[in-house]
Amino acid sequence: MSKKEVKNLVVVENVALNSTNFLIKLKSSESIPKIEPGQFVNVEIKDTNEIFLRRPFSVFDMDYTENTMSLIVKILGRGSKKLTEIKKGEELSVVFPLGKTFTYPDINDKILLVGGGSGVAPMLFLAKEAGLKKDNVTMLLGARTSEDHINVQKYEQYGNLYFTTEDGSLGEKGFVTAHSVFKNLKTYNKIYACGPDAMMKSIAKEADKAGVFCEVSLENLMACGFGVCLCCIEPTVKGNLCVCTEGPVFNINDLKW
Ligand SMILES: Cc1cc2nc3c(=O)[nH]c(=O)nc-3n(C[C@H](O)[C@H](O)[C@H](O)COP(=O)(O)OP(=O)(O)OC[C@H]3O[C@@H](n4cnc5c(N)ncnc54)[C@H](O)[C@@H]3O)c2cc1C
Ligand code: FES
Repeated sequence: MSKKEVKNLVVVENVALNSTNFLIKLKSSESIPKIEPGQFVNVEIKDTNEIFLRRPFSVFDMDYTENTMSLIVKILGRGSKKLTEIKKGEELSVVFPLGKTFTYPDINDKILLVGGGSGVAPMLFLAKEAGLKKDNVTMLLGARTSEDHINVQKYEQYGNLYFTTEDGSLGEKGFVTAHSVFKNLKTYNKIYACGPDAMMKSIAKEADKAGVFCEVSLENLMACGFGVCLCCIEPTVKGNLCVCTEGPVFNINDLKW
């Protein structure tokens, strides 16, 4: 695993993807170490006396030719709101790469990636990096309503895209686990998920019933991001583990869900 770095990266893009999600692209003046799907960065929130702690965000995309890293930031509270107000040309202090990656699928695996809310970021990054045939990759993205979904059509080149919305305004109506792909879970070799806890818990239950390998990326509250403050502890069958160093990716068999 690459050494952790603290770098000032320059904002080269900050675009609203919808009313609450922003794509922030950051550029380094030097080459960026390899960052893999599931890993995250801890970002300092600038120009505020109120927010001392960095905020964790999954890496959504990397471009090693341009030395850029992209994040999808959803406005949740004060820190994420402030972050989305950053201007092109400003610098952000970022600690990376943090955490462990998803287990890469084998070349002939059929995989199901399920993302909800800000959890779409690591799922789309994994779809891109997995290097599988398009027909072996199914991406299922869930949201409350069509407006909460961001435009991800360019990811159709990496797999088959499906949507759910709770109000039925895009894709199938209901939660992700009510989608028709969940009727045939045994056709997948591996399932990966990231999103709200309740969503991941119901996916884990279905994957367990079907006996399919499943990894989830947890979004526990974090402070330091590198195993010192112990505020991100998750009880597991291997004991209490720091999500920031032992995760955020966990096999569902290791979780006490
Ligand atoms: C490994 C990891 C990867 C993440 N990746 C992304 C990402 O790619 N995109 C993205 O938009 N967000 C991501 N998050 C969530 C993001 O870190 C939080 O939304 C952010 O820290 C909230 O900060 P804030 O100052 O806006 O909210 P705060 O003011 O700190 O909190 C506002 C409210 O939200 C609650 N809250 C804060 N953080 C979380 C959380 N992680 N889960 C549930 N409730 C929370 C607080 O308890 C509080 O009630 C990730 C979190 C983790 C741990
Ligand atoms: S965030 Fe500090 S130990 Fe995990």
